[in-house]
Amino acid sequence: MKDKSRKRIIIGNWKMNPSTLKDAEKLFKNVAKTISRIKKTEVVVCAPSVYLERLAKVRTSKIKLGAQNSFFGDVGPFTGEVSPEMLYNLGARFVILGHSERRNPPVGGGETNALINKKIKSALLGGLVTILCVGEEDRDENHGYFNIVKTQIEECLSGISRNSTSKIIIAYEPVWAISSTTNRRDATSADCMEMSIFIRKILSDKFGSDGSRIKIVYGGSVNERDALDFLQNGGVDGLLSGRASLSATKFTEIIKICEASNK
Ligand code: PGA
Repeated sequence: MKDKSRKRIIIGNWKMNPSTLKDAEKLFKNVAKTISRIKKTEVVVCAPSVYLERLAKVRTSKIKLGAQNSFFGDVGPFTGEVSPEMLYNLGARFVILGHSERRNPPVGGGETNALINKKIKSALLGGLVTILCVGEEDRDENHGYFNIVKTQIEECLSGISRNSTSKIIIAYEPVWAISSTTNRRDATSADCMEMSIFIRKILSDKFGSDGSRIKIVYGGSVNERDALDFLQNGGVDGLLSGRASLSATKFTEIIKICEASNK
């Protein structure tokens, strides 16, 4: 049965965009203005951390802020890193961890599941809801991709207690469907459904009934044309949008579609 108290969630991942604070504020304000009547959908914008402080000053109760990465620990000799506590103090309440672009050696330094696990523990301690990204690079005929996702979840969530389940979101993002992937192709809501069922099973094996508190969202070139299909037929609690979240029109359209589908 559908749990009516469970809000669906739309997350925007701006990645390393836009190039100026002025544009960031403009985009954020445009989204905030357009969704002022949204009630049933939780909206999160994960912006570059250098913009968070200013965005947190924009008056809106409809958008929560997130970061796109955080390190472990509070302070220390970690050149170039930012701690969950620092992000929290700037206004972030969410953080994306384990994104495929950070797992990718030439782009994000090749983050491993073990490192992501340390970061998740620290983010949870620092009060940030963790959006853990998982997803296979390719789909093989032997369905090895199920095991890849299983290992990612098990290793990244190793040692995390049941009490933290309400602070974790899993984003299923098949790398082959992400907009920045060369020769990408579209995932279907059926692809998403089979994986979301599989992820639910892993979570219930690990956390028992508390596993159901973990929301699962889909990400990978989500747009205003396929959002409804993923929400209705993909078995997910929401969406994580990258490229489309850089357009206030497209992003708010996705939010409105989610709101209307949330009967
Ligand atoms: P995309 O990005 O929507 O541009 O594919 C999603 C993501 O990488 O988080």
